[in-house]
Amino acid sequence: MSVARFAVIGQPVSHSKSPRIHAQFAQDCGVELQYQAIEIEPRQLADRLRELHAQGYAGLNVTLPHKAAVAALCESVSERAQLAGAVNCLIRTDTGWRGDNTDGEGLLRDLARLGIEINGQRVLILGAGGAARGIIGPLLEAGPKLLVVSNRNPWKPEDLAERFKAVGPLVPRTHLALKGDAFDVVINATSAGHSGDMPRLPPGLLAAGAKCYDLSYGIASEPFANWARKQSAAVVEDGLGMLVEQAASSFELWLGQRPQTAPVLAGLR
Ligand SMILES: NC(=O)c1ccc[n+]([C@@H]2O[C@H](COP(=O)([O-])OP(=O)(O)OC[C@H]3O[C@@H](n4cnc5c(N)ncnc54)[C@H](OP(=O)(O)O)[C@@H]3O)[C@@H](O)[C@H]2O)c1
Repeated sequence: MSVARFAVIGQPVSHSKSPRIHAQFAQDCGVELQYQAIEIEPRQLADRLRELHAQGYAGLNVTLPHKAAVAALCESVSERAQLAGAVNCLIRTDTGWRGDNTDGEGLLRDLARLGIEINGQRVLILGAGGAARGIIGPLLEAGPKLLVVSNRNPWKPEDLAERFKAVGPLVPRTHLALKGDAFDVVINATSAGHSGDMPRLPPGLLAAGAKCYDLSYGIASEPFANWARKQSAAVVEDGLGMLVEQAASSFELWLGQRPQTAPVLAGLR
């Protein structure tokens, strides 16, 4: 029998840690598989997805810039991916691709690992892009006392409040209008760190003992971590654990078993 094939698609994609993560999951689970990184230009996305299906790929991870566009090319899309308006995992069906989004689940699992409670807490999300859309549903379901989304572009949080109103209440804000508010958990879902930036925020946003989590990792997580430490955050964490957890959720969707994440995360650190 031929070995099951998987890949991550994106542009650029050569930097992706997914091939390494999935190779270790497979080894630890005693599963034989191939996992590649495949660069795809946006204008070739539809054709290449058809080709990869015809070539027998069993599953794909999707990274930037394709997460939103892929949704429209799927035969079916899970409810959580529909709400997020973004797909990061494709599961093969006989006739096409089913789209799902494991980012929110990955975040919630990593927060649980780190002992960062959401239930009953005042939670602030910075940023209102694709990653924010992926995590809002699971965060609302975790029962925060308050969930605020603030963003540079003031219209996007308003749109998100409307989009998620059936799941739970979300308070839209601009960064400036956060003045006077205090939060127990602050989650950075902006991409500002990739250009060495940090959103401009009013002082005093962190309640005593507040925990700060950045979806970014590596150098991109440094500006937020520096801000959080200056604001005396009790806990400062990056998104490498989320990356591994969302990958484990994809692996589980494809192969029906959840790999251990701790050894893979330790290896990446
Ligand atoms: N750990 C993981 O597994 C994981 C998974 C998914 C994403 N991520 C990370 O999450 C981050 C966001 O990704 P995304 O897909 O949501 O990107 P995106 O859709 O492009 O959204 C970017 C967001 O960042 C904001 N932003 C960008 N530069 C800014 C600046 N200089 N100041 C203030 N706000 C700024 C944007 O605000 P405007 O709307 O005002 O432009 C927008 O809200 C990335 O760093 C990505 O690597 C991590």
